[in-house]
Amino acid sequence: MNAKKTRVAILISGRGSNMRSLVDAARGKNYPAEIVLVLSNKAEAEGLAFAKERGIATAVVDHKAFSDREAFERVLQAKLLEHGVELVCLAGFMRVLTAWFVEQWREKMLNIHPALLPSYRGLHTHERALADGVKIHGATVHFVSPEMDAGPIVAQAAVPVLDSDTPDALAARVLEQEHRIYPLALSRVASGAARVEGFRVRIAGEPSAPAALIWPAN
Ligand code: GRF
Repeated sequence: MNAKKTRVAILISGRGSNMRSLVDAARGKNYPAEIVLVLSNKAEAEGLAFAKERGIATAVVDHKAFSDREAFERVLQAKLLEHGVELVCLAGFMRVLTAWFVEQWREKMLNIHPALLPSYRGLHTHERALADGVKIHGATVHFVSPEMDAGPIVAQAAVPVLDSDTPDALAARVLEQEHRIYPLALSRVASGAARVEGFRVRIAGEPSAPAALIWPAN
């Protein structure tokens, strides 16, 4: 008998490759989450077509149609509630969220960031990592807090920075790992295995199931 799956919405603004990795993982019979909605703030987001093909409900809420952030988010919130969403995954969703919206989804909203937080918050992470000459870079899945690219860390993956790297080459290496850790993190949060304790997220079953991946890992 299957346990009830957690109802998840994925918020995107563009390509949607992380969304695809979550949708694919959620097809697994024993995966604890189901993707019930893919929502974009841009009608032209490429990811929407993929979600439709998979028979997942999609919605577009264009932020430009609203005079302020909260008015936009109130419509977003209504859509999420309409679909009975229990957990939100931000996946390349390029809108800054207000404290009001974040509070609605406290410990129920995840984000993926292309850097090893708390290093390199914000944009252009790969360019900045290369400019600084760091030898290790990576990706982080974290709970969303009102402060941008902060919040308790659920999973991370590290990759080496190579001498030959360009920002695009490094981005591609990191993205491959993003597609591994986001499904892992969502599974742990949706199943209830991940528990927030202050700034730390403890995973039931550790250390046999570590939430950190070192490239190249199996
Ligand atoms: C990813 O690198 C993600 O970490 C960042 O935005 C990018 C989105 O890519 N937040 P995609 O739309 O998931 O392909």
